[in-house]
Amino acid sequence: MQKQDRSERRLSCCVLPAHVTSSDMTAIAPVVIPPPPPLVPLPLVHDSAPVAGVSLSEVLAAMSRALDMTEGEEAGHTVRTCIIGMRIAEELDLSAFDRVALYGAMLLKDAGCSGNSQVVADVLKVSEPPRRRRLSLRRRAASAIPSRQQLSRGERGERIALRLGFSTATAEAIRGIDEHWDGSGRPDSLIGHEIPLFSRIILLAQTVDAFLSRHGLPAAMRVARERSGAWFDPSLVRIVRSWREEGGWWARLHSPDATAIALSLEPPQHTRYVDDKGLDEVARAFAEIIDSKSPFTYQHSTNVAKYARAVAYELGFARDDVRRLNRAALLHDVGKLGISSRILDKAGPLTPEERAEMQRHPVFTWEILQGVSAFAGFARTASLHHERLDGSGYPWGVRAEDLDVPARILCVADMYEALTANRPYRAGLGRETALKIIRQGSGKHVCPVAAEALTEATRHLKVSLDG
Ligand SMILES: [Fe+2]
Ligand SMILES: [Fe+2]
Repeated sequence: MQKQDRSERRLSCCVLPAHVTSSDMTAIAPVVIPPPPPLVPLPLVHDSAPVAGVSLSEVLAAMSRALDMTEGEEAGHTVRTCIIGMRIAEELDLSAFDRVALYGAMLLKDAGCSGNSQVVADVLKVSEPPRRRRLSLRRRAASAIPSRQQLSRGERGERIALRLGFSTATAEAIRGIDEHWDGSGRPDSLIGHEIPLFSRIILLAQTVDAFLSRHGLPAAMRVARERSGAWFDPSLVRIVRSWREEGGWWARLHSPDATAIALSLEPPQHTRYVDDKGLDEVARAFAEIIDSKSPFTYQHSTNVAKYARAVAYELGFARDDVRRLNRAALLHDVGKLGISSRILDKAGPLTPEERAEMQRHPVFTWEILQGVSAFAGFARTASLHHERLDGSGYPWGVRAEDLDVPARILCVADMYEALTANRPYRAGLGRETALKIIRQGSGKHVCPVAAEALTEATRHLKVSLDG
């Protein structure tokens, strides 16, 4: 292997080392992973009907698994929080209008849970020449990055909720979920009833669930009592603690039916249905959440989608197939929400164990997307983005015969973005250099048709769904 810049050896999913081929990855320590996704052929052109009448809540409840991963909570945390919060709403006799706003806020409560994209955007805006700015970028990034504590997840979640068309009441509820009754919270240090009621409900419900899931009901009741008047609205704590003898009700929160129970609690006649454009917007919103998780992936998913769309049009894909590939590209790294930021943001080379953990993210992508009915059709394509024609990719080592055209396009789009994008620790490569590197693998681990189409497509990028 040629001598490399240490920063380029970081085997992050989205930071491809310039001189490392995927065959180098075969030396990675074995890690137990689930079997590859079922090999459902995805035809280049087909006559699938546009999606219509999909419940937005159903999509968000299914996608909340990704948000649970980001927060390090057990699967189902969001829907359990939803069930607890809706029971509080029932006991408060909230109007249907209020319950709709609360319900949406609970499904999206962690939409802002990852994020430093704006910080990174500011870092990358400097206008020094690339070579001279590399060290400067690295230093700026080191001081600017993370601290999720410095940034309000509520503010980020508020923006995403508004983008998805939720009401200002929902958005404000999300903004205030880290406010504390005694004024010690964020982002606005509101006190008592200054805090939106929905925010107070969500904070209590999510905390109770977190303790319930990890330590059991007595611990959950204890934390509610101990933080009453400090974090929590005392009147809401009294309501929740009044259920402490209802073991059967609490047990249902961890039943396989929890998601169905949560969905049944959406106020009737207020279900929002989304069409194809709405699903595109959901995919874009989650791409923003994914890209916000690490400063090393600023705008990665949206850029991969742009390149994948351009290649697809170059190859004559029909519009519906471009749309499907666009969503797959936007969500291909959703599994990274399940990878620790300690690994994603590590400045130096990854250890074999860390690398093995990082290489699990396509498995998480598969597990998340195949559980979302509206997205299951492209879950396989999205989860194969690190596989290579010669079987040297990861995590499944899938070979050429099982990599369909959309998956091959996604591979080259992902590689091209990783090579050309500016990162806090290095400037992106130029188009010609990046394409040269990709074409070096053409016919070996990279699909030659996709590589050539990428070359043509990047001459005249077409970025919209309409070409
Ligand atoms: Fe990836
Ligand atoms: Fe990626």
